[in-house]
Amino acid sequence: MISLAILGSGRGSNMQAIIDAIAAKSLAADIKLVASDHADAPILKRAKQHHIATHWIDLNDHKGRFSEAAQEDLANHLQSLAIDLVCLAGFMRIIRPPLLNAFPERILNIHPSLLPAFPGKEAWKQALEAGAQQSGCTVHLVDDGIDTGPILAQTAIDILPDETPASLHRRIQEREHRLYPQAIQDYALSLGLEG
Ligand code: GRF
Repeated sequence: MISLAILGSGRGSNMQAIIDAIAAKSLAADIKLVASDHADAPILKRAKQHHIATHWIDLNDHKGRFSEAAQEDLANHLQSLAIDLVCLAGFMRIIRPPLLNAFPERILNIHPSLLPAFPGKEAWKQALEAGAQQSGCTVHLVDDGIDTGPILAQTAIDILPDETPASLHRRIQEREHRLYPQAIQDYALSLGLEG
């Protein structure tokens, strides 16, 4: 059984997809903690509805920054829970050495583009504005860059002639919800984590 922590700042639809995959037994994992830098983030509310432990990353003592000290605190908390993999799902903060070094090659992210194309914010909009023919989503390991770590899995979709940013975002997210749980399962297997 893989012990997961999920970090998110927003809606939590990818967390929901992970919960659903666990319920459907296509992902042999246990979500030990869902953490957010926003106390009122929907992802925390949803996690509570599923009786999953939640944690608010309180940055008030860090001038609102996800400082090295704050990352060390979170790393210690996650290590005390014996977390195998940390899954970022819409977590809008940059991960720094205290957390990276506590979980080397154990932090995953899902990004709404075919990386290395269009890292950063609103990647679906960037793809449309650049006139790309295809877009999609990528699961990758997190390193100290922004959306730069080694790629674990990708799904491509064609951009339709009448595509809008909203429609492309929605279509990419549908694919994310299938890709992320599968990529977590495959990566955990490759590490020999599932037992
Ligand atoms: C996803 O589209 C993901 O690609 C990006 O942030 C979004 C999170 O959405 N990194 P949700 O909170 O999982 O609904």
